[in-house]
Amino acid sequence: MPKLFTKIRDLRNYIKTAKQDGGYTVGFVPTMGYLHDGHRRLIKSSKAHNDITVVSIYVNPLQFAEGEDYERYPRDLERDISLCEEELVDVVFAPSDEEMYPERPLLRISIEGLTEVLEGQFRPGHFSGVCTVVLKLFNIVNPNRAYFGEKDYQQLKVVERLVKDLSIPTEIVAVPTVRDEEGLALSSRNLYLSPEERRSALSLYRSFLLAETLIKNGNTEASLLKKAIEDFILKHPKVRKVDYVEITDPELRPVQQVKEGDRILLAVWVGNTRLIDNWRIGDAKVRGHTQGRGF
Ligand code: PAJ
Repeated sequence: MPKLFTKIRDLRNYIKTAKQDGGYTVGFVPTMGYLHDGHRRLIKSSKAHNDITVVSIYVNPLQFAEGEDYERYPRDLERDISLCEEELVDVVFAPSDEEMYPERPLLRISIEGLTEVLEGQFRPGHFSGVCTVVLKLFNIVNPNRAYFGEKDYQQLKVVERLVKDLSIPTEIVAVPTVRDEEGLALSSRNLYLSPEERRSALSLYRSFLLAETLIKNGNTEASLLKKAIEDFILKHPKVRKVDYVEITDPELRPVQQVKEGDRILLAVWVGNTRLIDNWRIGDAKVRGHTQGRGF
């Protein structure tokens, strides 16, 4: 069984002893729970490179705006602890809201050019909430390494920059997106999808393969590719709206002509569920159809 902590002070003491007396390295996997094989992949990466792996499970209210899915976000701590046990996680940190935020934090973090674009445009305040909780968790866990999924590519870039700008002594490790056998990126929010919506949601992954084919045939103009992706996705019956389709370089700067290594990023409403996904251009070519699934 992993050790379960709910109090900041107790976890801090445990980590302090493990680092000072044991000389252990600490790998950290921050999550909002309802764990799936994507999270599992992060845990496995941490286990492979650190003496102790800490998983946090906390649905952070600060990163949800009014009217978003904070209340209905799936929660099942017992199930999460079982998955952590299977993966031989050493420590689970599952604090209450009162423990994390005895008072509403007044700190607001923004990163020029990074937190206001893409997701930031459609979810104002989201990354400020993510940065606050990640920084707070880093201060509690004091990890040598922390693991973030490429599934949330912009979040990964924001956290990398947070750590760089504030000289936080934690190495950020990026982990590739885990997809199911049909290509759908795993997400706790997939639970919201009806079978028919799930079929429509496969259009996200398939649009990436379509883009790869277009690129292979010499279509490298970003505007053309973005339109082809959007049109393709919108043809699917349960797709309600495309918030954005963007193509950027690896640092999230928009490009006009695409090349290998650039990223397609998108957010799409399937029924009442908002899904995000992204794709590194060149991956289908390099590793074939199964690329990126992580299995
Ligand atoms: P959550 O959505 O639970 O995701 C936790 C971590 O798992 C993130 O780094 C995310 O990118 C990664 N992840 C999710 N699905 C994945 C998949 N299919 N393949 C690979 N990695 C995947 O992201 C958050 O929580 C929160 O914003 C958090 C960082 C915990 C701050 O509250």
